[in-house]
Amino acid sequence: MQNIRKIAVLTSGGDAPGMNPCIRAVVRTAIFNNKQVIGVRQGYQGLIDNDMYDMHTRSVSNILAQGGTILKTARCMPFKTDEGQDIAYRNLKEREVDALVVIGGDGTFTGALRFSKRFPDIAVIGVPGTIDNDLYGSDYTLGFDTACNTVIEAIDKIRDTADSHDRLFFIEVMGRDSGCIALRTGIAGGAEAIMLPETETALDDLIRDLESSPNKSSSIVIVAEGDHHGGAYDIAKIVKDRIRSYHTKVTILGHLQRGGSPSSFDRILGSRMGYAAVNALLRGETQKMVGLRGNHIETTSLEEALTNHEFKLEDDLMEMIKILSI
Ligand code: F6P
Repeated sequence: MQNIRKIAVLTSGGDAPGMNPCIRAVVRTAIFNNKQVIGVRQGYQGLIDNDMYDMHTRSVSNILAQGGTILKTARCMPFKTDEGQDIAYRNLKEREVDALVVIGGDGTFTGALRFSKRFPDIAVIGVPGTIDNDLYGSDYTLGFDTACNTVIEAIDKIRDTADSHDRLFFIEVMGRDSGCIALRTGIAGGAEAIMLPETETALDDLIRDLESSPNKSSSIVIVAEGDHHGGAYDIAKIVKDRIRSYHTKVTILGHLQRGGSPSSFDRILGSRMGYAAVNALLRGETQKMVGLRGNHIETTSLEEALTNHEFKLEDDLMEMIKILSI
């Protein structure tokens, strides 16, 4: 088993609230175990640009409550190439790094797995950090809970004005390929309908349902950005002339869903995952992702986390959509 001495940590892809608590846990758990830590700026781009710095216990002071990521992040195309990865490897070797913790989503893990297969002497552990909650092997990803709370606050506010004007609102939430945010916030916000990339909504049925609910003073439809019919504007355009009982409005929540101070859940999840990631490295694990299953932290191979597309939307939530919003 490889003796780990120096761990590099980076955040990559879309930022997510909870990344900072996770970075803090990685740094402090590593130092507690007498390991050195290097922070990499701008995700994989920082590996290629050699933009890294020594981190100490105080480098992560007072970041628990901060959204975003102090390490900054990027979506890095050059790391997809052999040339980019070769440079990253050389830079890491020169700094005598023997392990990597990568915090991000599926794009981040795809890069990490390929890198680790090409250069197995650098151990890699992934931490699922994305508001989308779309990785197999963890019931929750970092940032999902905070993003849902942000969306629910927005839905509640829109409900006030929708109700006052007897309006129908289409609210678009993030989730290119994942309806997790839409489903959860739709249920918690009492939405009349939820449109998800995982299931196709028949627009005729949607219109009929919206028209047939008796005595409603407002209606809200949550649309995940990856829905088959397009975004909320596209859908509103199609249905607006066919809905007689409401005036139709659209709100796109956009990137505000990615910001904000992490919820207590995401702070604890980030801390647990960062702690677990370092401990997994110290046990000699590599090419794994740490994840929360039930109330336990477990590891799953990166390969499986990326290839298993088990439907992650809870059956009971799917069933209750219409029943609870009649
Ligand atoms: O992956 C997280 C996510 O927020 C998605 O829900 C969204 O589609 C995407 O990132 C937006 O990415 P960007 O900030 O690069 O436009």
